[in-house]
Amino acid sequence: MKKIMVTGALGQIGTELVIKLRGIYGKDNVVATDIRMDKSAAATSGPFETLDVTDGKKMLELAKKYQVDTIMHLAAMLSAVAEAKPLAAWNVNMGGLVNALETAKELGLKLFTPSSIGAFGPSTPKDRTPQVTIERPTTMYGVNKVSGELLCDYYFTKFGVDTRGVRFPGLISYMAPPGGGTTDYAVEIYYDAVEKGRYTSFIDKGTYMDMMYMPDALQAIVQLMEADPARLKYRNAYNITAMSVEPEEIAKEIRHHLPNFKLDYSVDPVRQAIAESWPNSIDDSAAREDWGFKSNYDLEKMTKDMLRKIERKIERKGKLAQ
Ligand code: NAD
Ligand code: SER
Repeated sequence: MKKIMVTGALGQIGTELVIKLRGIYGKDNVVATDIRMDKSAAATSGPFETLDVTDGKKMLELAKKYQVDTIMHLAAMLSAVAEAKPLAAWNVNMGGLVNALETAKELGLKLFTPSSIGAFGPSTPKDRTPQVTIERPTTMYGVNKVSGELLCDYYFTKFGVDTRGVRFPGLISYMAPPGGGTTDYAVEIYYDAVEKGRYTSFIDKGTYMDMMYMPDALQAIVQLMEADPARLKYRNAYNITAMSVEPEEIAKEIRHHLPNFKLDYSVDPVRQAIAESWPNSIDDSAAREDWGFKSNYDLEKMTKDMLRKIERKIERKGKLAQ
């Protein structure tokens, strides 16, 4: 990878991925794109273009203009938003991916696009979900993710496009807010712990889902994209995870730092049903074996870092407001 275009670059992942990639490959070699513009470092610290991923012509033009060799395709609608607007989600999630695949095919580019634990459904084995298993999701997001995995496989076998991907668990981070997913509670809980000392969770106690701290997710993307292609047996959809947790466990860890933190519940039936259709925990041994995936943050280490970073962020905001 020498020159990379990122779509959906101002979202939860892109905001941090663009900065990491600019640090490794050079700031002029990472073109950030999104349907909107903001003042984040991802938008201002290097080349930025507005791009609606459903506009395939413009995507191709930009890839040619910047002579990129890789697309990292992040633009998407996440699980809860997709459930509220299923047809729009199909159009953005599948239409955008088809355009990215076609651009990659036309110009001979590498393509990274993430799948998700959302690709699994109620009939999937729930614990230590295997790499290869039943994928019959019951959400529009999941249908998009399974279709995307298959479409990327198709473009690789049929046209030789170097497509790669992982099934991300819920990602936890402090820079950009999450974009409307089922796992968002695991980000909100940290902000509310610092700002209010309490959190009302929309996901019920005892509901386990896989999670990962953002630095591990970013490292995984770079590692997979730089991996020896000959070793990638499941190139488009590697299970990866760092921890399997439920709300009470996160709260308990937060109380090691903020002893008075209180957690209560107002369960959202839509997001709860999505969460219950997903695995409790997934098995990522294939990613570990094939390209050396390894997570560095467990719940304890992540909680310490999240709370510290959010406290600093709030302090900085307070100073700016004075
Ligand atoms: P996000 O919702 O935070 O960001 C998505 C970005 O895409 C936003 O900046 C939005 O403006 C942009 N976008 C939306 N529609 C667009 C369009 N038509 N054209 C161009 N840009 C558009 O999402 P994220 O968390 O950064 O996720 C990125 C990818 O990773 C998605 O495919 C998502 O399914 C996947 N993923 C994320 C998580 C997670 O926990 N964040 C977990 C598993 C998989
Ligand atoms: N965090 C994502 C979501 O909840 C998982 O893909 O939608």
